[in-house]
Amino acid sequence: MKSGKRVALVTGAGRGIGLAIAEELAGEGCDVAVMDVHDEAAVSAALERIGGRGAGTLYCRADVSSAADRAKTLAAVEERFGRLDVLVNNAGVAPRARADILEATEESYERVMKINLQGPYFLTQAAANWMIRQRRENGAFSGCIINVASISAVVASPGRGEYCVSKAGMSMMTQLFAARLGEFGIPVYEIRPGIIATDMTAGVREKYDRLIAEKGILVQSRWGRPEDVARVAAMMARGDIAYSTGQIVTVDGGFTLRRL
Ligand SMILES: NC(=O)c1ccc[n+]([C@@H]2O[C@H](COP(=O)([O-])OP(=O)(O)OC[C@H]3O[C@@H](n4cnc5c(N)ncnc54)[C@H](O)[C@@H]3O)[C@@H](O)[C@H]2O)c1
Repeated sequence: MKSGKRVALVTGAGRGIGLAIAEELAGEGCDVAVMDVHDEAAVSAALERIGGRGAGTLYCRADVSSAADRAKTLAAVEERFGRLDVLVNNAGVAPRARADILEATEESYERVMKINLQGPYFLTQAAANWMIRQRRENGAFSGCIINVASISAVVASPGRGEYCVSKAGMSMMTQLFAARLGEFGIPVYEIRPGIIATDMTAGVREKYDRLIAEKGILVQSRWGRPEDVARVAAMMARGDIAYSTGQIVTVDGGFTLRRL
């Protein structure tokens, strides 16, 4: 039974920032499809949290870097909900080991680029084509695409160059799809989180604690929380900044603010 609600697909929503975004969009009245690589048992608590906000949920165990998995996911969303209104490209990985750009391997580069850039790029292509079809069938349809990039799109970390290049690429991807999809009324936005407390940053927690406390790298001197990012995604998905596309909201506690 289809609910008639707007439907959001959030990649990497099994935990962390993606889960917070999925919960927030559920609270906004969307049904939510979650795409992640974990087996379903490992994300059952996450799905309950999303469902607890009133959403119908669908779990797609799929790898965003696989073309077959992307197609399978969109087919499952169509089968379950019959529509897709919001795509959030959130899934992403850091390099398995941080390595100096003078030594890092091509293998790590390929892995990070496939998951963080190539996968979202072609998932967006497929989702955008589906949104265009929906728009042609229903002039009132209003889609939206949100890319979770990073301050690493503009902040150079030579100890994880492939990650920075993937996020800089995603930033151009935001502009490209925004330019192409304007005629169909589909805005494309980018969020650039700074230092957010999730599993991804668990291994560098003490290092960043020190940088925040002793070096004063932030203007707002605390770790970011997944909810800080999620609220911005909800604002975008609601259409609060409708006369705007290809734009970036940086959620970094002032990290990238130039100061003297
Ligand atoms: N945590 C931060 O400080 C921070 C800062 C800037 C940007 N980001 C970005 O935010 C996004 C979410 O990060 P997070 O901190 O929540 O990380 P996280 O590792 O806690 O969660 C990422 C989720 O993505 C999933 N995922 C990984 N590879 C996947 C794949 N191939 N296919 C589908 N799902 C996959 C993981 O299983 C996990 O559930 C990432 O794109 C990350 O680069 C995070």
